[in-house]
Amino acid sequence: MNSPFILVIFGATGDLTARKLMPAIYRLVKAGEITQEPFIIGVGRRDITKSQFHSMMEESVRHAVKEDFDTALWKKIVAGIDYQMGLFEDAAVYNRLVTKLEAFDAKLKACVPRFFYLATPPEHYEVILKHLDGSKLAEGCGQGTTNYTKVLIEKPFGKDLETARTLDKLLASIFEERQIYRIDHYLGKETVQNLLAFRFANGIFEPTWNRNFIDHVQITLSEETGVGKRGAFYDGVGALRDVVQNHMLQMLAVTAMDQPVAFDATSIRDMRVKAMQTIELIGPEDVGKNVVRGQYEGYTGESHVDAASQTETYVALKVMLASERWKGVPFYLRTGKKLGKKVSEISLHYKKPIVCTGDLCLFPEPKVLRNVLAVRIEPNEGIVLRVMVKQPGLGMLDLTASMMHFTYREAFGNKENPDAYERLLLDSIRGDQTLFARTDEIETSWKLVTPLLDGCKNTQTPVYIYKHGAIGPREADALIEKDKRSWFLI
Ligand SMILES: NC(=O)c1ccc[n+]([C@@H]2O[C@H](COP(=O)([O-])OP(=O)(O)OC[C@H]3O[C@@H](n4cnc5c(N)ncnc54)[C@H](OP(=O)(O)O)[C@@H]3O)[C@@H](O)[C@H]2O)c1
Repeated sequence: MNSPFILVIFGATGDLTARKLMPAIYRLVKAGEITQEPFIIGVGRRDITKSQFHSMMEESVRHAVKEDFDTALWKKIVAGIDYQMGLFEDAAVYNRLVTKLEAFDAKLKACVPRFFYLATPPEHYEVILKHLDGSKLAEGCGQGTTNYTKVLIEKPFGKDLETARTLDKLLASIFEERQIYRIDHYLGKETVQNLLAFRFANGIFEPTWNRNFIDHVQITLSEETGVGKRGAFYDGVGALRDVVQNHMLQMLAVTAMDQPVAFDATSIRDMRVKAMQTIELIGPEDVGKNVVRGQYEGYTGESHVDAASQTETYVALKVMLASERWKGVPFYLRTGKKLGKKVSEISLHYKKPIVCTGDLCLFPEPKVLRNVLAVRIEPNEGIVLRVMVKQPGLGMLDLTASMMHFTYREAFGNKENPDAYERLLLDSIRGDQTLFARTDEIETSWKLVTPLLDGCKNTQTPVYIYKHGAIGPREADALIEKDKRSWFLI
């Protein structure tokens, strides 16, 4: 990327900027993906100087990139970083930004593309967007359609269907869809993308990727940590909104989608949304049968969490898809905090082969396990295939399950995969929207999750307590075991 650009980060003293955005920018410059040092303005309410902001950012980048830190390069990058103190609600902040951006355009004698990154809790989106509009910052310097501005907006996008629609309406009144980049960082993960390459570039998998061969699908996203300092935010959100509405439904869509005609934004997003639209709604009458909510022991004692909170920190659910490809194949989803390990995994469980004809069996039937194709998104990214093999020896009937592994580390050495935020930032700079959620994806996901939320509230489904380090409440096991299946992790 050779052309200059301006990145304005709202929420520049926050966790996301420190842990993800600034290290991503540093790595992109270091890798030569951004050849021109960017001009960045961090906006935050802390009364700190530019040089204090620089020190904060340096510490974060050093911490993230460790021995890869290059002092000379950082000096070049930091020369283009500014800090703008002020409240998001204050119009004067935006007027000062106008002055700074105009001065930058004048210095470069160009209409420099502007990126506005809303790295803030969602309650600030509306006020920031209205001020971007009111101050005309959203219009850029108004040089027609090629030099337009872009807005990057973090999840969660709304709290339910109604609030998501309101936010989308506001966005659409200020920006065109091609200028809006709704971030779901799971879509930027290397392994999620590799799932598509794996399916469509290998002749042996895609033909079996359907109800004729697959018995069921599981998607797990478990975290080891609790809510930490984000108690106030999380308590009003819960796992259904925080993770299922976005990351889990996107992983489901990527797994279930049909083959796109090309790897471009329109084709891929069309296929993702089509897959999501086939998910059958779980109405209030079915919530008890298909959804299990849990809360980790001690959650209500976390700071800024209501002592009587019924917010779920865990959820497991079973969904069915009405498509030709997946009719009759359950998708089991589970996610939670303070679980035994941090892992994200998608697994496809194949139907068992027919080994018996009447009373005659080729192998003792219970010994034949399902083949499983598991895609490990993190950690130890890779793909594993469970196959049945004969144990060495003279007997023919001694079967055992064995794992065939592909790991990124073994295949490509210790080179780390780019962080999702590196890819997403670069794609937004290049104008590639493939890995960003489109308005109809957001709408569809909330159409699915809002009745679930209402159903849980209206039917008062219990929130089962689970211990730290468990893999969820026991009731979640019952959800899958009543179908004679069990949870699986590599
Ligand atoms: N953190 C992550 O790893 C992560 C991952 C994925 C998505 N996200 C999403 O990214 C967004 C940001 O998350 P975060 O964890 O970075 O939040 P955060 O740590 O709470 O940061 C919020 C930022 O907004 C500033 N701020 C808050 N109210 C303000 C106001 N009225 N005027 C001016 N500045 C104000 C804060 O300033 P102070 O520093 O003064 O408080 C801080 O810079 C959220 O939507 C979150 O869901 C975060």
